Amino acid sequence: MAKGEKKPAEQSNQFLKIIRDWQKLEDETIKFSDDMLKKTKNPLIKMTMEMIKHDSQKHKVMQQMLIDSVTKQALILSPDDLNNLGDGLNRHMEAEARSVELADEALKNSELFATKYVLSYLIADEQKHHNLLSKLEDLKKATVFVT
Ligand SMILES: [Fe+2]
Ligand SMILES: [Fe+2]
Repeated sequence: MAKGEKKPAEQSNQFLKIIRDWQKLEDETIKFSDDMLKKTKNPLIKMTMEMIKHDSQKHKVMQQMLIDSVTKQALILSPDDLNNLGDGLNRHMEAEARSVELADEALKNSELFATKYVLSYLIADEQKHHNLLSKLEDLKKATVFVT
């Protein structure tokens, strides 16, 4: 970092504390999910708890990546990192967009609580995938590359 440049907010102790507190909470949600999994044989409840458990495990890894980016090595993304992916990113994004369409269509053609419950989870996930990829694709087009 150049002399006189302001440190990013992530370098503050407050940022690290928030992420660390949050990461500890993930252990609790994993434990709650496990407790509930032991108490039920219902496939829908089981699916819900399994999904939350897996997500929490995933969150812990991602939070650790953020902590490491402050305490060890900063995370960077260069135009080359994205350009090396060729048109793969765009094609993947289109497939995720098509998934959202199909999921929406399935939801329109359903009426049972259980079906709609599962489909709404899937729609949110597919939208999330699409949004993540389109943020990267947008960054490729940006004239000023921000990290
Ligand atoms: Fe979480
Ligand atoms: Fe997806």
